[in-house]
Amino acid sequence: MDRRRFLINSSLAAMGGMTFSRYMLGAQMHWPPHGPGMPPPGSVSEAEIKAARFPKDFYWGTATAAYQVEGAWTADGKGESIWDRFSHVVGNIKGGDTGDVACDSYYRYPEDIAIMQQLHQKSVRFSVSWPRIQPMGTGNVNQKGLDHYSKVVDAMLKANLRPMCTLYHWDLPQALQDKGGWPNRDLYKYFADYAEIVTKALGDRVDTWAIFNEPWVFTFLGYGIGIHAPGLTGIDGFLKAAHTVNLAQGEAYRAMRAVSAKAKIGTAFSMSPGAPATDSTEDVAAARRFNAVNNVYFLDTALYGRYPDAFEGGIPYKKMGFREGDGEIMKAKLDWMGINYYNRHIISYAKDAEYGENFNAVMPHQGPITYNGWEVWPRGMYDIVTQMWKTYKLPIEITENGCAYSDGPLSDDPDKVPDARRTTFYREHLAELARAMRDGADVRGYHAWSILDNFEWAEGYSQRFGMTYIDFRTEKRTIKDSGHWYGRVSAAGRLDV
Ligand code: FCB
Repeated sequence: MDRRRFLINSSLAAMGGMTFSRYMLGAQMHWPPHGPGMPPPGSVSEAEIKAARFPKDFYWGTATAAYQVEGAWTADGKGESIWDRFSHVVGNIKGGDTGDVACDSYYRYPEDIAIMQQLHQKSVRFSVSWPRIQPMGTGNVNQKGLDHYSKVVDAMLKANLRPMCTLYHWDLPQALQDKGGWPNRDLYKYFADYAEIVTKALGDRVDTWAIFNEPWVFTFLGYGIGIHAPGLTGIDGFLKAAHTVNLAQGEAYRAMRAVSAKAKIGTAFSMSPGAPATDSTEDVAAARRFNAVNNVYFLDTALYGRYPDAFEGGIPYKKMGFREGDGEIMKAKLDWMGINYYNRHIISYAKDAEYGENFNAVMPHQGPITYNGWEVWPRGMYDIVTQMWKTYKLPIEITENGCAYSDGPLSDDPDKVPDARRTTFYREHLAELARAMRDGADVRGYHAWSILDNFEWAEGYSQRFGMTYIDFRTEKRTIKDSGHWYGRVSAAGRLDV
Protein backbone atom coordinates (compact mmCIF):
# COMPACT_ATOMS: atom_id res chain seq x y z
CA MET A 1 0.00 0.00 0.00
CA ASP A 2 1.50 3.35 -0.94
CA ARG A 3 1.12 6.51 1.10
CA ARG A 4 -1.65 7.88 -1.06
CA ARG A 5 -3.70 4.78 -0.66
CA PHE A 6 -2.87 4.69 3.02
CA LEU A 7 -4.11 8.22 3.47
CA ILE A 8 -7.34 7.40 1.74
CA ASN A 9 -7.92 4.69 4.28
CA SER A 10 -5.85 5.87 7.19
CA SER A 11 -7.34 4.05 10.10
CA LEU A 12 -5.97 1.39 12.32
CA ALA A 13 -8.67 -0.67 10.75
CA ALA A 14 -6.45 -0.91 7.70
CA MET A 15 -4.32 -3.30 9.72
CA GLY A 16 -7.18 -5.58 10.43
CA GLY A 17 -7.65 -5.94 6.70
CA MET A 18 -10.88 -3.97 6.73
CA THR A 19 -12.36 -2.84 3.50
CA PHE A 20 -14.37 0.28 2.83
CA SER A 21 -16.25 1.91 0.05
CA ARG A 22 -15.69 5.58 -0.36
CA TYR A 23 -18.24 5.60 -3.13
CA MET A 24 -20.85 4.38 -0.75
CA LEU A 25 -19.86 7.08 1.72
CA GLY A 26 -19.91 9.68 -1.03
CA ALA A 27 -23.43 8.76 -1.92
CA GLN A 28 -24.57 9.45 1.62
CA MET A 29 -23.23 12.96 1.61
CA HIS A 30 -24.85 16.06 0.21
CA TRP A 31 -22.43 17.58 -2.26
CA PRO A 32 -23.03 21.25 -3.01
CA PRO A 33 -23.83 21.82 -6.70
CA HIS A 34 -20.78 22.12 -8.91
CA GLY A 35 -20.01 21.93 -12.56
CA PRO A 36 -18.37 23.75 -15.45
CA GLY A 37 -17.88 27.44 -14.77
CA MET A 38 -18.49 27.09 -11.04
CA PRO A 39 -15.75 27.21 -8.42
CA PRO A 40 -14.69 23.76 -7.23
CA PRO A 41 -16.33 22.50 -4.03
CA GLY A 42 -14.53 23.65 -0.93
CA SER A 43 -12.96 26.70 -2.56
CA VAL A 44 -12.76 30.08 -0.89
CA SER A 45 -14.38 33.27 -2.19
CA GLU A 46 -12.41 36.31 -3.35
CA ALA A 47 -14.10 38.30 -0.59
CA GLU A 48 -12.51 35.98 2.01
CA ILE A 49 -9.13 36.29 0.32
CA LYS A 50 -9.38 40.09 0.45
CA ALA A 51 -10.52 40.06 4.08
CA ALA A 52 -7.52 38.05 5.28
CA ARG A 53 -5.05 39.99 7.43
CA PHE A 54 -2.10 38.75 9.45
CA PRO A 55 -0.35 40.48 12.35
CA LYS A 56 2.93 42.29 11.79
CA ASP A 57 4.89 39.83 13.90
CA PHE A 58 3.40 36.78 12.17
CA TYR A 59 6.02 34.14 11.41
CA TRP A 60 5.89 33.55 7.67
CA GLY A 61 7.93 30.46 7.08
CA THR A 62 8.64 27.25 5.26
CA ALA A 63 9.62 23.79 6.47
CA THR A 64 12.07 21.05 5.54
CA ALA A 65 13.45 17.90 7.15
CA ALA A 66 17.04 16.67 7.31
CA TYR A 67 16.66 13.40 5.43
CA GLN A 68 14.50 14.97 2.74
CA VAL A 69 16.95 17.71 1.75
CA GLU A 70 20.45 17.25 3.14
CA GLY A 71 21.99 14.34 1.23
CA ALA A 72 25.63 13.86 2.36
CA TRP A 73 24.54 10.67 4.02
CA THR A 74 28.02 9.61 5.12
CA ALA A 75 29.64 13.06 5.50
CA ASP A 76 31.63 14.19 8.53
CA GLY A 77 31.16 11.07 10.63
CA LYS A 78 27.39 10.72 10.26
CA GLY A 79 26.01 7.33 11.26
CA GLU A 80 23.51 5.34 9.23
CA SER A 81 19.83 6.13 9.77
CA ILE A 82 16.82 3.89 9.31
CA TRP A 83 15.95 5.90 6.21
CA ASP A 84 19.41 5.26 4.72
CA ARG A 85 18.94 1.55 5.32
CA PHE A 86 15.31 1.49 4.13
CA SER A 87 15.85 3.50 0.96
CA HIS A 88 18.80 1.33 -0.03
CA VAL A 89 16.54 -1.69 -0.32
CA VAL A 90 15.18 -1.84 -3.85
CA GLY A 91 11.41 -1.91 -3.88
CA ASN A 92 10.88 0.27 -0.83
CA ILE A 93 10.96 3.62 -2.63
CA LYS A 94 9.30 4.55 -5.89
CA GLY A 95 11.80 4.58 -8.74
CA GLY A 96 14.56 3.17 -6.51
CA ASP A 97 15.20 6.72 -5.25
CA THR A 98 17.23 7.43 -2.11
CA GLY A 99 18.05 10.48 -0.01
CA ASP A 100 21.81 9.98 -0.54
CA VAL A 101 22.09 13.31 -2.36
CA ALA A 102 18.57 14.77 -2.19
CA CYS A 103 18.80 18.58 -2.53
CA ASP A 104 22.43 18.54 -1.39
CA SER A 105 21.41 21.10 1.21
CA TYR A 106 24.07 19.88 3.65
CA TYR A 107 26.43 21.83 1.38
CA ARG A 108 24.04 24.20 -0.37
CA TYR A 109 22.24 25.58 2.69
CA PRO A 110 23.59 29.11 2.10
CA GLU A 111 21.83 29.12 -1.26
CA ASP A 112 18.59 27.86 0.31
CA ILE A 113 18.73 30.50 3.02
CA ALA A 114 19.34 33.18 0.39
CA ILE A 115 16.13 32.09 -1.35
CA MET A 116 14.22 32.39 1.93
CA GLN A 117 15.66 35.82 2.47
CA GLN A 118 14.71 36.87 -1.04
CA LEU A 119 11.14 35.71 -0.28
CA HIS A 120 10.92 37.86 2.88
CA GLN A 121 10.71 34.86 5.19
CA LYS A 122 10.67 35.31 8.97
CA SER A 123 10.89 31.71 10.16
CA VAL A 124 12.43 28.47 8.97
CA ARG A 125 11.56 25.05 10.27
CA PHE A 126 14.39 22.54 9.82
CA SER A 127 15.34 19.29 11.53
CA VAL A 128 18.50 17.92 13.06
CA SER A 129 19.61 14.46 12.03
CA TRP A 130 20.17 12.37 15.17
CA PRO A 131 22.81 10.11 13.53
CA ARG A 132 24.88 13.17 12.61
CA ILE A 133 25.03 14.03 16.31
CA GLN A 134 25.26 10.53 17.78
CA PRO A 135 26.25 8.13 14.99
CA MET A 136 25.44 5.12 17.18
CA GLY A 137 22.38 6.70 18.79
CA THR A 138 23.88 6.71 22.27
CA GLY A 139 27.12 7.85 23.86
CA ASN A 140 29.77 9.50 21.69
CA VAL A 141 28.92 12.88 20.31
CA ASN A 142 30.11 13.76 16.82
CA GLN A 143 31.33 17.34 17.15
CA LYS A 144 31.36 17.82 13.39
CA GLY A 145 27.62 17.18 13.30
CA LEU A 146 26.97 19.80 15.96
CA ASP A 147 29.30 22.26 14.22
CA HIS A 148 27.33 21.84 11.03
CA TYR A 149 24.00 22.80 12.59
CA SER A 150 25.65 25.58 14.51
CA LYS A 151 26.78 27.12 11.21
CA VAL A 152 23.34 26.60 9.70
CA VAL A 153 21.64 28.35 12.63
CA ASP A 154 24.10 31.26 12.45
CA ALA A 155 23.37 31.66 8.75
CA MET A 156 19.63 31.66 9.45
CA LEU A 157 19.93 34.30 12.14
CA LYS A 158 22.10 36.42 9.90
CA ALA A 159 19.29 36.33 7.33
CA ASN A 160 16.80 37.46 10.02
CA LEU A 161 15.10 34.09 10.07
CA ARG A 162 13.82 32.56 13.27
CA PRO A 163 15.23 29.03 13.41
CA MET A 164 12.55 26.56 14.47
CA CYS A 165 14.34 23.31 15.18
CA THR A 166 12.71 19.89 15.01
CA LEU A 167 14.69 17.29 16.93
CA TYR A 168 13.28 14.24 15.24
CA HIS A 169 11.91 14.09 11.72
CA TRP A 170 12.03 10.31 11.32
CA ASP A 171 15.74 9.53 10.79
CA LEU A 172 16.44 7.24 13.74
CA PRO A 173 20.03 6.01 14.04
CA GLN A 174 20.07 2.52 12.55
CA ALA A 175 22.12 1.35 15.56
CA LEU A 176 19.04 1.98 17.71
CA GLN A 177 16.79 0.14 15.28
CA ASP A 178 19.20 -2.76 15.67
CA LYS A 179 18.28 -2.65 19.36
CA GLY A 180 14.58 -2.90 18.50
CA GLY A 181 13.78 0.67 17.47
CA TRP A 182 10.96 2.69 19.03
CA PRO A 183 9.13 -0.36 20.43
CA ASN A 184 12.15 -0.70 22.74
CA ARG A 185 11.32 1.34 25.81
CA ASP A 186 15.01 2.15 26.45
CA LEU A 187 14.85 4.61 23.59
CA TYR A 188 12.99 7.18 25.61
CA LYS A 189 16.05 7.82 27.73
CA TYR A 190 18.41 7.76 24.75
CA PHE A 191 16.23 10.30 23.01
CA ALA A 192 16.23 12.60 26.03
CA ASP A 193 20.06 12.45 26.10
CA TYR A 194 20.14 13.46 22.45
CA ALA A 195 17.64 16.27 23.06
CA GLU A 196 19.81 17.59 25.86
CA ILE A 197 22.95 17.52 23.70
CA VAL A 198 21.31 19.50 20.91
CA THR A 199 19.66 22.01 23.25
CA LYS A 200 23.00 22.63 24.95
CA ALA A 201 24.70 23.20 21.60
CA LEU A 202 22.06 25.39 19.93
CA GLY A 203 19.84 26.64 22.75
CA ASP A 204 21.71 29.94 23.08
CA ARG A 205 20.43 30.84 19.59
CA VAL A 206 17.39 28.62 19.00
CA ASP A 207 14.28 29.48 21.04
CA THR A 208 11.58 27.48 19.33
CA TRP A 209 11.72 23.70 19.30
CA ALA A 210 9.54 20.90 18.00
CA ILE A 211 10.40 17.69 19.81
CA PHE A 212 8.88 15.34 17.22
CA ASN A 213 7.47 15.58 13.75
CA GLU A 214 4.20 13.70 13.29
CA PRO A 215 4.65 11.01 15.93
CA TRP A 216 1.53 9.20 14.80
CA VAL A 217 2.78 8.96 11.21
CA PHE A 218 6.24 7.60 11.91
CA THR A 219 5.06 5.07 14.49
CA PHE A 220 2.08 3.87 12.47
CA LEU A 221 3.64 3.90 9.00
CA GLY A 222 7.02 2.65 10.22
CA TYR A 223 6.01 0.02 12.78
CA GLY A 224 2.31 -0.59 12.06
CA ILE A 225 1.92 -0.94 8.31
CA GLY A 226 5.54 -0.87 7.19
CA ILE A 227 5.41 1.57 4.29
CA HIS A 228 7.98 3.83 5.93
CA ALA A 229 11.29 2.98 7.62
CA PRO A 230 12.01 0.66 9.28
CA GLY A 231 9.29 -1.17 7.33
CA LEU A 232 7.83 -3.29 10.14
CA THR A 233 4.23 -4.39 10.52
CA GLY A 234 1.90 -5.29 13.36
CA ILE A 235 -0.34 -3.46 15.77
CA ASP A 236 1.69 -4.50 18.81
CA GLY A 237 4.77 -2.84 17.36
CA PHE A 238 2.81 0.33 16.69
CA LEU A 239 1.31 0.46 20.19
CA LYS A 240 4.69 -0.08 21.81
CA ALA A 241 6.52 2.36 19.55
CA ALA A 242 3.87 5.01 20.18
CA HIS A 243 4.15 4.51 23.92
CA THR A 244 7.95 4.87 23.93
CA VAL A 245 7.57 8.04 21.85
CA ASN A 246 5.09 9.42 24.37
CA LEU A 247 7.54 8.71 27.19
CA ALA A 248 10.35 10.22 25.13
CA GLN A 249 8.37 13.41 24.55
CA GLY A 250 7.97 13.97 28.29
CA GLU A 251 11.53 13.02 29.18
CA ALA A 252 13.02 15.15 26.39
CA TYR A 253 10.85 18.09 27.41
CA ARG A 254 12.27 17.99 30.94
CA ALA A 255 15.84 17.58 29.70
CA MET A 256 15.45 20.57 27.39
CA ARG A 257 13.74 22.70 30.01
CA ALA A 258 16.60 22.02 32.42
CA VAL A 259 19.03 23.39 29.86
CA SER A 260 16.96 26.37 28.74
CA ALA A 261 14.28 28.19 30.70
CA LYS A 262 13.39 30.37 27.72
CA ALA A 263 12.94 27.52 25.21
CA LYS A 264 9.48 27.37 23.62
CA ILE A 265 8.87 23.68 23.27
CA GLY A 266 6.18 21.97 21.21
CA THR A 267 5.67 19.13 18.76
CA ALA A 268 4.44 19.12 15.16
CA PHE A 269 1.38 16.87 15.04
CA SER A 270 -0.26 15.52 11.89
CA MET A 271 -3.87 16.58 12.24
CA SER A 272 -6.95 16.04 10.16
CA PRO A 273 -10.52 17.09 10.89
CA GLY A 274 -12.69 13.98 10.87
CA ALA A 275 -16.41 14.57 10.40
CA PRO A 276 -18.84 11.71 11.04
CA ALA A 277 -20.34 10.31 7.83
CA THR A 278 -23.85 10.46 9.34
CA ASP A 279 -25.26 11.75 12.61
CA SER A 280 -25.79 8.24 13.95
CA THR A 281 -24.44 7.72 17.48
CA GLU A 282 -22.04 5.09 16.12
CA ASP A 283 -20.50 7.35 13.49
CA VAL A 284 -20.25 10.26 15.91
CA ALA A 285 -18.44 8.08 18.46
CA ALA A 286 -16.20 6.67 15.70
CA ALA A 287 -15.24 10.23 14.70
CA ARG A 288 -14.32 10.92 18.32
CA ARG A 289 -12.04 7.88 18.35
CA PHE A 290 -10.49 8.95 15.05
CA ASN A 291 -9.65 12.30 16.62
CA ALA A 292 -8.18 10.54 19.65
CA VAL A 293 -5.95 8.24 17.60
CA ASN A 294 -4.98 10.48 14.71
CA ASN A 295 -4.86 13.94 16.20
CA VAL A 296 -4.27 13.94 19.95
CA TYR A 297 -2.74 10.56 20.81
CA PHE A 298 0.55 12.34 21.54
CA LEU A 299 -0.96 15.59 22.80
CA ASP A 300 -3.31 14.50 25.58
CA THR A 301 -0.54 12.29 26.90
CA ALA A 302 1.75 15.31 27.15
CA LEU A 303 -0.76 17.74 28.59
CA TYR A 304 -2.71 15.43 30.90
CA GLY A 305 -0.47 12.42 31.39
CA ARG A 306 -3.09 10.02 30.07
CA TYR A 307 -4.16 8.47 26.78
CA PRO A 308 -7.29 9.78 25.09
CA ASP A 309 -10.26 7.48 24.75
CA ALA A 310 -9.20 6.01 21.45
CA PHE A 311 -10.41 2.43 21.67
CA GLU A 312 -13.85 0.94 22.19
CA GLY A 313 -13.48 -1.36 25.15
CA GLY A 314 -10.60 0.46 26.81
CA ILE A 315 -6.97 1.33 26.28
CA PRO A 316 -4.73 -1.69 25.56
CA TYR A 317 -2.20 -0.83 28.29
CA LYS A 318 -0.70 -4.29 28.37
CA LYS A 319 0.03 -4.39 24.66
CA MET A 320 1.62 -0.96 24.93
CA GLY A 321 3.95 -2.04 27.69
CA PHE A 322 2.49 0.67 29.96
CA ARG A 323 3.96 0.66 33.46
CA GLU A 324 2.88 2.31 36.64
CA GLY A 325 4.20 5.85 36.75
CA ASP A 326 4.30 6.23 32.97
CA GLY A 327 1.55 8.85 33.09
CA GLU A 328 3.92 11.19 34.91
CA ILE A 329 6.81 10.45 32.54
CA MET A 330 4.68 11.28 29.50
CA LYS A 331 3.75 14.71 30.84
CA ALA A 332 5.20 17.72 29.03
CA LYS A 333 3.84 21.19 29.58
CA LEU A 334 4.11 22.16 25.92
CA ASP A 335 4.34 25.87 25.19
CA TRP A 336 2.70 25.58 21.78
CA MET A 337 1.30 23.00 19.42
CA GLY A 338 2.30 22.52 15.82
CA ILE A 339 -0.35 21.50 13.31
CA ASN A 340 0.58 19.82 10.04
CA TYR A 341 -2.58 20.02 7.96
CA TYR A 342 -2.94 18.35 4.58
CA ASN A 343 -6.42 16.88 4.31
CA ARG A 344 -9.69 15.99 5.99
CA HIS A 345 -11.42 12.67 6.55
CA ILE A 346 -14.96 11.37 6.78
CA ILE A 347 -15.41 8.82 9.53
CA SER A 348 -17.82 5.96 9.85
CA TYR A 349 -18.24 3.22 12.38
CA ALA A 350 -16.57 -0.08 11.57
CA LYS A 351 -16.84 -3.02 13.90
CA ASP A 352 -14.10 -5.49 14.76
CA ALA A 353 -10.97 -3.50 14.10
CA GLU A 354 -8.27 -5.39 15.91
CA TYR A 355 -7.96 -3.28 19.06
CA GLY A 356 -11.28 -1.55 19.26
CA GLU A 357 -10.49 1.64 17.40
CA ASN A 358 -13.45 0.66 15.22
CA PHE A 359 -13.62 3.37 12.59
CA ASN A 360 -13.06 3.77 8.90
CA ALA A 361 -11.47 7.00 7.75
CA VAL A 362 -11.95 8.06 4.17
CA MET A 363 -10.35 10.98 2.43
CA PRO A 364 -13.11 12.29 0.19
CA HIS A 365 -12.53 13.29 -3.42
CA GLN A 366 -14.98 16.13 -3.51
CA GLY A 367 -12.51 18.99 -3.86
CA PRO A 368 -9.75 19.13 -6.50
CA ILE A 369 -7.11 16.40 -6.29
CA THR A 370 -3.37 17.07 -6.16
CA TYR A 371 -0.69 15.08 -7.93
CA ASN A 372 -0.41 12.52 -5.15
CA GLY A 373 -4.16 12.05 -4.86
CA TRP A 374 -4.79 14.24 -1.81
CA GLU A 375 -7.98 16.27 -1.79
CA VAL A 376 -7.67 20.06 -1.60
CA TRP A 377 -9.98 21.20 1.22
CA PRO A 378 -9.06 24.64 2.56
CA ARG A 379 -11.96 24.71 4.99
CA GLY A 380 -10.29 21.84 6.85
CA MET A 381 -7.65 24.34 7.95
CA TYR A 382 -10.31 26.45 9.66
CA ASP A 383 -11.96 23.38 11.17
CA ILE A 384 -8.87 21.82 12.69
CA VAL A 385 -7.37 25.07 13.95
CA THR A 386 -10.58 26.21 15.64
CA GLN A 387 -11.16 22.74 17.08
CA MET A 388 -7.68 22.61 18.60
CA TRP A 389 -7.80 26.18 19.83
CA LYS A 390 -11.15 25.70 21.55
CA THR A 391 -10.06 22.44 23.15
CA TYR A 392 -6.57 23.30 24.37
CA LYS A 393 -6.15 27.10 24.27
CA LEU A 394 -2.49 26.57 23.42
CA PRO A 395 -0.72 28.91 20.98
CA ILE A 396 -0.64 27.30 17.55
CA GLU A 397 1.91 27.28 14.77
CA ILE A 398 1.08 25.75 11.42
CA THR A 399 4.20 23.64 11.07
CA GLU A 400 3.32 22.20 7.63
CA ASN A 401 0.76 22.66 4.87
CA GLY A 402 1.31 22.16 1.18
CA CYS A 403 0.56 20.28 -2.01
CA ALA A 404 2.26 18.18 -4.68
CA TYR A 405 2.06 19.39 -8.28
CA SER A 406 4.56 18.42 -10.93
CA ASP A 407 4.93 21.75 -12.78
CA GLY A 408 8.42 22.40 -14.15
CA PRO A 409 10.33 25.20 -15.92
CA LEU A 410 9.04 26.41 -19.29
CA SER A 411 11.12 25.09 -22.17
CA ASP A 412 11.46 28.55 -23.74
CA ASP A 413 11.88 30.37 -20.41
CA PRO A 414 13.70 28.02 -18.01
CA ASP A 415 13.73 30.57 -15.19
CA LYS A 416 9.97 30.51 -15.00
CA VAL A 417 7.92 27.79 -13.31
CA PRO A 418 4.20 28.58 -13.57
CA ASP A 419 2.41 26.63 -10.83
CA ALA A 420 -0.89 28.45 -10.45
CA ARG A 421 -2.58 25.53 -8.69
CA ARG A 422 -0.07 25.73 -5.82
CA THR A 423 -0.64 29.47 -5.44
CA THR A 424 -4.39 28.86 -5.32
CA PHE A 425 -3.86 26.14 -2.73
CA TYR A 426 -1.86 28.44 -0.46
CA ARG A 427 -4.01 31.53 -0.79
CA GLU A 428 -7.16 29.57 0.06
CA HIS A 429 -5.61 27.71 3.00
CA LEU A 430 -4.16 30.93 4.33
CA ALA A 431 -7.54 32.66 3.98
CA GLU A 432 -9.11 29.92 6.07
CA LEU A 433 -6.33 30.26 8.61
CA ALA A 434 -6.95 34.01 8.79
CA ARG A 435 -10.65 33.32 9.33
CA ALA A 436 -9.80 31.02 12.25
CA MET A 437 -7.60 33.76 13.69
CA ARG A 438 -10.38 36.30 13.27
CA ASP A 439 -12.59 33.94 15.23
CA GLY A 440 -10.12 33.96 18.09
CA ALA A 441 -7.49 31.27 17.46
CA ASP A 442 -4.03 32.31 18.64
CA VAL A 443 -1.89 31.36 15.64
CA ARG A 444 1.69 32.63 15.65
CA GLY A 445 3.13 31.32 12.39
CA TYR A 446 2.68 29.36 9.18
CA HIS A 447 5.21 27.08 7.51
CA ALA A 448 4.59 26.04 3.95
CA TRP A 449 5.75 22.57 3.02
CA SER A 450 8.14 23.09 1.41
CA ILE A 451 10.65 25.69 0.29
CA LEU A 452 12.27 23.08 -2.02
CA ASP A 453 11.14 20.08 -4.00
CA ASN A 454 12.63 17.21 -2.05
CA PHE A 455 12.75 13.50 -1.25
CA GLU A 456 9.14 12.58 -0.49
CA TRP A 457 9.71 9.40 1.57
CA ALA A 458 8.29 6.27 -0.08
CA GLU A 459 7.30 8.39 -3.11
CA GLY A 460 10.93 9.34 -3.79
CA TYR A 461 11.30 12.36 -6.06
CA SER A 462 8.01 11.73 -7.85
CA GLN A 463 6.09 14.23 -5.69
CA ARG A 464 7.13 17.87 -5.89
CA PHE A 465 5.95 19.89 -2.88
CA GLY A 466 8.36 22.80 -3.29
CA MET A 467 7.97 26.51 -3.92
CA THR A 468 11.36 26.15 -5.55
CA TYR A 469 11.89 23.73 -8.40
CA ILE A 470 14.94 21.51 -8.18
CA ASP A 471 16.53 19.90 -11.20
CA PHE A 472 17.82 16.83 -9.40
CA ARG A 473 20.43 16.19 -12.10
CA THR A 474 22.17 19.52 -11.53
CA GLU A 475 20.69 20.70 -8.19
CA LYS A 476 19.79 23.98 -9.87
CA ARG A 477 17.15 25.88 -7.89
CA THR A 478 14.44 27.90 -9.66
CA ILE A 479 11.84 29.74 -7.60
CA LYS A 480 8.37 28.84 -8.85
CA ASP A 481 5.61 31.43 -9.37
CA SER A 482 4.04 30.29 -6.08
CA GLY A 483 7.30 31.07 -4.29
CA HIS A 484 7.39 34.61 -5.68
CA TRP A 485 3.76 35.03 -4.69
CA TYR A 486 4.47 33.75 -1.15
CA GLY A 487 7.33 36.22 -0.90
CA ARG A 488 4.97 39.11 -1.68
CA VAL A 489 2.42 37.81 0.82
CA SER A 490 5.06 37.47 3.54
CA ALA A 491 6.15 41.06 2.96
CA ALA A 492 2.61 42.46 2.87
CA GLY A 493 0.79 40.36 5.50
CA ARG A 494 -2.13 40.10 3.08
CA LEU A 495 -3.22 37.64 0.42
CA ASP A 496 -4.51 39.99 -2.26
CA VAL A 497 -1.06 40.82 -3.64
C1 FCB B 1 4.31 15.21 6.06
C2 FCB B 1 5.77 15.07 6.48
C3 FCB B 1 6.72 15.83 5.61
C4 FCB B 1 6.35 15.75 4.15
C5 FCB B 1 4.89 16.08 3.94
C6 FCB B 1 4.44 16.06 2.51
O1 FCB B 1 3.57 14.17 6.56
O2 FCB B 1 5.93 15.52 7.81
O3 FCB B 1 8.00 15.35 5.88
O4 FCB B 1 6.66 14.51 3.64
O5 FCB B 1 4.10 15.20 4.68
